[in-house]
Amino acid sequence: MRNMTIDLCGVKLKNPLIAASGTFGFGREYGEFYDISSWGAIAVKGLTNEPREGNPPHRIAETASGVLNSVGLQNPGIDAFLRDELPRLARAGTAVIANVAGSTAEDYAEAVRKLSGAPVDIVELNISCPNVKRGGAQFGARPESAAEITSAVRKVCDHPLMVKLSPNVSDITEIARAVSGAGADAISLINTVTGMAIDAKTRTPVLANVTGGLSGPAIKPVALRMVWQTSRAVSIPVVGMGGIMTGEDAAEFLIAGANAVMIGTANMIDPFAGPRILRELENFMDENGVPDVGSLVGTLKTG
Ligand code: SIN
Repeated sequence: MRNMTIDLCGVKLKNPLIAASGTFGFGREYGEFYDISSWGAIAVKGLTNEPREGNPPHRIAETASGVLNSVGLQNPGIDAFLRDELPRLARAGTAVIANVAGSTAEDYAEAVRKLSGAPVDIVELNISCPNVKRGGAQFGARPESAAEITSAVRKVCDHPLMVKLSPNVSDITEIARAVSGAGADAISLINTVTGMAIDAKTRTPVLANVTGGLSGPAIKPVALRMVWQTSRAVSIPVVGMGGIMTGEDAAEFLIAGANAVMIGTANMIDPFAGPRILRELENFMDENGVPDVGSLVGTLKTG
């Protein structure tokens, strides 16, 4: 018998695999392909207090080993989410993580206030979106502003609060300690790495926003390093992500110190990535004599 369940800040997940925000919509489209209750949790697309149209096209560019995006937080707004998406998602048989973004501290707080009493399991505070002019990564760039926004949201949040960090900083452990000290119950990382793509023939940027966020296998080594550093710097749970494509990739993040992992870009390449990676992780455990997935966490041997 294998135990795949984990506890993430008081929320019991049936397995440690979470669909990453922004790569799974609200689960509707993937639900047409397979039973989305196989996920440990689903993190929904970043929600803002008001609806947003996002950035102009092109917003996506494929790169050698990943995807550049500059979506700009397109979403229907928190009210429409609560009305049109959450009732279905809450019955889907998996935990729901509401990813929340905003331009100002008041914006974030207002959106989180609206989630009070709603059937979501965890709120994920997005202070790391690199694709908007105001808010997003601006808040996550310095320990002071990261702590300030975490503490403002903590006051109005009646769910466990997870803060999603940006890798585009000089010392991730400073930011992690700051949000942990300001009341975060968990940390998720890494959001995308800022990059750009150029069309040499036209000498123009591929993305209308010029820069975007890189995800996928190209960033996995950076993500592993930051998850390892962060899990040693704070005592709250860490959720790792960045280029996980296989069950063995997921095991590497758990070994680095992540209590759970998020799968993002893999969903865009293989719509069945979630159930496949779960099967692969289970096989990895069986082949390596690991009966309890939690026993992998933080077991990196550094000599
Ligand atoms: C986006 O909507 O631009 C991506 C969201 C994010 O990176 O947090």
